[in-house]
Amino acid sequence: MSQDVYRISKSIREKFKVFPLKPEDLARLTNVGLEHFAYLKEVKAINFSVFFRVNMELLEFITPENFSHELVDRIIAARNKEYQNLDICVRGIDFPKFQALVDTVRSKKIATLMEKDPHLDRKTMQIFGNLSGASQMIVRGGISASVAKKAKASASELIDGLMDSHVAIGTLSRMVLADSTLYDHSASVAMLAGIIGKNLMGMSKIDAERCARGGLYHDVGKTCVPNSILNKPGKFTPEEFEIMKTHTTLGYEELKKAILEGAPIEEEVALVTLEHHEKFSGGGYPYGKTGRREDRADGISIYARVVTIADVYSALLMKRVYKDAYDQNQTLEIMRGSADRDYDPSIWKKFEKSVDKSQVHYKELDSRPVDQSKGRIFLMDDDGFHQMGNKKKTNVS
Ligand SMILES: [Fe+2]
Ligand SMILES: [Fe+2]
Repeated sequence: MSQDVYRISKSIREKFKVFPLKPEDLARLTNVGLEHFAYLKEVKAINFSVFFRVNMELLEFITPENFSHELVDRIIAARNKEYQNLDICVRGIDFPKFQALVDTVRSKKIATLMEKDPHLDRKTMQIFGNLSGASQMIVRGGISASVAKKAKASASELIDGLMDSHVAIGTLSRMVLADSTLYDHSASVAMLAGIIGKNLMGMSKIDAERCARGGLYHDVGKTCVPNSILNKPGKFTPEEFEIMKTHTTLGYEELKKAILEGAPIEEEVALVTLEHHEKFSGGGYPYGKTGRREDRADGISIYARVVTIADVYSALLMKRVYKDAYDQNQTLEIMRGSADRDYDPSIWKKFEKSVDKSQVHYKELDSRPVDQSKGRIFLMDDDGFHQMGNKKKTNVS
């Protein structure tokens, strides 16, 4: 694996402010993820500075005064190069401002998407937006008690607001095809896992929430895997695959550490991170566990068996550097190929049925004539259809 070392050139030193860092300063910085950082390309101004941390020096690269999309692109290019000694960060006290900006961009993207495709379910999109906010905190801010509380609140909101499973599954699936930049893997896994738990498996609210939070946390260990491996266009070498596998054990360790520090995360939820790549008939990693924990002490937990299905479905739908986005049909076909070995059959059967139903549901919606709504956008409100533009409400019965 090749990882270059970033050096601050003389010209950069002359152009930007460079501060020496003491070890105690590190705690005052928060790393930001590239996925959400790219949202800055859609804003005109920022109210915080973005820094490069290069070893123990801090380079103030973007300030509110010099903000430009060209500088944002330069950061993205540097991050994609996978320099081993470079982080993009904001001051910890500025992180809420960064998050607020990302939330605003996300809301706008959701609104634009709803205009493009009025068949997307508004409530699903709204809940997805909140989960995506929580997932952004988890992936970048590290797990703390306050992050775990936010995850709890979002999961609870998801379970309380759950809509028809086939509508939500259909909306998530169409959304990724319409705007892949909006798609957030952990948020969608959380949502799918919550839907499977509550709607398809008939779990209690507590258990369904655990499925959802397991989904939010499942890939937290990926922050320890270099981007050059995560985004590799081709097949992994055996050595790279070994590194990739560590995201399960390292993620679990991170969660255990957070639990010790008081984060409200149950052991069963943390176990999802460890077990989400186990396969029902064996052959998964890290341990090659088989079967249900309910039947055998070394089996896979119910929450992990749910999240595994949500994870594979979401990953196949997503566009990645090494693959195009698949539609629901292709995704289902691929999953069917190994379903009898990889997934708990009692969960898989229900999920498969619901995805099929969502395809039929959306096919029907798409085939409906759109004459009445031609040129107008309708958003579904609690009390009827809300027409965008003139705020006029049309109640439906
Ligand atoms: Fe994973
Ligand atoms: Fe995943």
